Amino acid sequence: MAVGRRLFGHIDGRTTDLADDLFRNRIVNYSCRERAALEREKLFRGLPVFMGLSTRLPKPGDYLTEDMAGMPVLMTRGADGQVRAFANICRHRGAPVASGCGNARAFTCPYHGWTYDGMGKLLGTTDKVGFAGLDLAAHGLVPLPAADMHGMLYIRARPGSESLDVDTALGPIAADMAALELGTYPLYSTDRVTPRINWKFAIDTFLEGYHIPHLHRKTIGPYFVGNCGVFKSGGLSGRLSVPKTSIESQRAVPDDARDYRRHVVSIYQLFPNALLIWQLDHIEIWRAFPDRDDPSRCEVEMTIYRPATSTRPDSYWEKNRDIAIRTVMEEDFPLGERMQIGFESGVTEEVIYGRNEPSLVHFHQSIRSALGVPA
Ligand code: FES
Ligand SMILES: [Fe+2]
Repeated sequence: MAVGRRLFGHIDGRTTDLADDLFRNRIVNYSCRERAALEREKLFRGLPVFMGLSTRLPKPGDYLTEDMAGMPVLMTRGADGQVRAFANICRHRGAPVASGCGNARAFTCPYHGWTYDGMGKLLGTTDKVGFAGLDLAAHGLVPLPAADMHGMLYIRARPGSESLDVDTALGPIAADMAALELGTYPLYSTDRVTPRINWKFAIDTFLEGYHIPHLHRKTIGPYFVGNCGVFKSGGLSGRLSVPKTSIESQRAVPDDARDYRRHVVSIYQLFPNALLIWQLDHIEIWRAFPDRDDPSRCEVEMTIYRPATSTRPDSYWEKNRDIAIRTVMEEDFPLGERMQIGFESGVTEEVIYGRNEPSLVHFHQSIRSALGVPA
């Protein structure tokens, strides 16, 4: 209600939430290798990273694998229902013990057939003589800290077996995540692309509604009030709420009976590299990972989760998937690829984020503070 009222105030006054100041960012931060190495170490290895909703691993025995910024990861839901994560690296000679996703009681390494259970324990080797004397108990998969909280999966891609404090990572956003009941949204679709942009570009594009009436005038533009939003900071993360033009339907409704939820899209920036978008009747999640060695490339994953109780036909969700692809992958990212070329030309030194782009300013301030760099 508070967000809705504030948005009506902005629409009437032709205003939007403002950051305190303009923010200038050095362009080399989008292309420099030293910066990319620092980000990998401090953000992608050092912090809890959001892996999607817990409905990616609904049943005991379910597993998924991912390569995240140079860390091959295996995530499992054990027979005891607990979520765990491991480096997906066989202790014999390093092959990944699992691929893709599915349900399994054990993982057999494809290289020489060593077998591990869902808790990461080495069950056995294939040549008993060749490995006689090897302490199986000391050669389990290397554990990574993992959590399953508020229907969200988290991993920290640096070895350790302590539990992750997701609430601290989420700050004030944790209450929103709990209220959304994310565990009730099964996964509908997964799309992956590898655009030639720095991973931060992929996140930036979601953090302001300023460009919507311009770049997206032929797709989502007509449905949104452009350059209008309410921003709430949540520690390193944040929430940007933008109104759809349909919010006008609430004008005739008495103030305290208005239902703003059908007319406001909320974009949660889950630091460092994910966005969870409350799309009125479903959840859309974007995650961006830097390429292992090229700062001007990244891998972006878009997933759609629909409510378990929905009776809508697949064609409805397909339409939602299609509009997300057309808007982001066919409008934002292709333009981003041309911007990346312009950045690497070396002609300009800075980009400027306006006061009307508070979510973008906050994201880059969060990066600076997490990296411990002045600029
Ligand atoms: S590398 Fe896994 S069994 Fe040899
Ligand atoms: Fe966009």
